[in-house]
Amino acid sequence: MEDDGSLQITDAPRAVLRESAGLATPDAGVVPALQLTGVSIEYPGRFRQPGFKAVSDVSFVINPGEVMGLVGESGSGKSTIARAVTGLLPVSAGSVDINGTNIAGLSPKKMLPLRRKFAIVFQDPAASLNPRMSIGESIGEPLFLHEKLSRADLDRRVEGLLDDVQLPTNFRNRYPHELSGGQRQRVGIARALSLRPSLLVADEPTSALDVSVQARVLALLQDLQQQYGFACLFVSHDLAVVEILASHIAVLNKGIMVEQGSTEQVLKYPQDAYTRRLLAAAPVPDPAEQAQRREQRNALMAAGSTVE
Ligand SMILES: Nc1ncnc2c1ncn2[C@@H]1O[C@H](COP(=O)(O)OP(=O)(O)OP(=O)(O)O)[C@@H](O)[C@H]1O
Ligand SMILES: [Mg+2]
Repeated sequence: MEDDGSLQITDAPRAVLRESAGLATPDAGVVPALQLTGVSIEYPGRFRQPGFKAVSDVSFVINPGEVMGLVGESGSGKSTIARAVTGLLPVSAGSVDINGTNIAGLSPKKMLPLRRKFAIVFQDPAASLNPRMSIGESIGEPLFLHEKLSRADLDRRVEGLLDDVQLPTNFRNRYPHELSGGQRQRVGIARALSLRPSLLVADEPTSALDVSVQARVLALLQDLQQQYGFACLFVSHDLAVVEILASHIAVLNKGIMVEQGSTEQVLKYPQDAYTRRLLAAAPVPDPAEQAQRREQRNALMAAGSTVE
């Protein structure tokens, strides 16, 4: 009891400080799940065309188990950051620390053991699954590559993952074209979570789906985030979606981070004119209507059917 009391006392000022700054800062003694420091990313020029600096000097922190929403207009550099975080794109300056290891400039060989620690879910579930692999093979592939499992153990793990994403276990024998968009995205999520990553990067994971399907996949992601406890960089242009999932929000404008803070702070008291414009451009600016929409969305999520 005494111990608990002293823990709370030392924790409180830090929480207050973080709240007042509105920033997700590294908790003392905690290694962030993801930390970007002064990151710039350039696409190389081609045919005497100059290169293009898509991201300039971006810094943010995601602590373990936290969800950060990355928002901004089309072309603001969200996917560029998501790709750099997962090592698919090199950074031209700065560092990208995943669980305390800077992945910028790491060779693919050095990167390999780190690959277990993070996973990515893409926007287009059709394009991200190999059409020639059965669903079971797709979900089991990372496990097969990273863990030397027996056939029976692998099958069991794949069935467990199908169960986690609320798909029938006999779906493992199907192929991607035999699934709906929502079901395919569930498979993408199962594959991403197969190695129990500490960081999940989700780049617009529901924007290719119907609104009602979108709500159920989001509800699933939210449940899985609580169950697995992974940290998440959640890329979206939809502020309503980010509001539901994220504890913190970072706002990008033309490759520059213009604002970041707690979700409440950024949505209720936006400091930057660009954030205010984004909020004003959100589909439902009227708070009463917004509340009603949120209720509808929550009701849909509560319904939680797996048929889509
Ligand atoms: N392979 C590439 N080569 C050169 N420029 C690129 C490349 N990919 C993206 N860009 C440019 O970088 C900028 C950021 O693109 P990015 O895809 O990161 O935007 P985004 O915020 O994800 O947009 P959206 O919301 O439309 O997905 C854009 O101006 C884009 O034209
Ligand atoms: Mg994008």
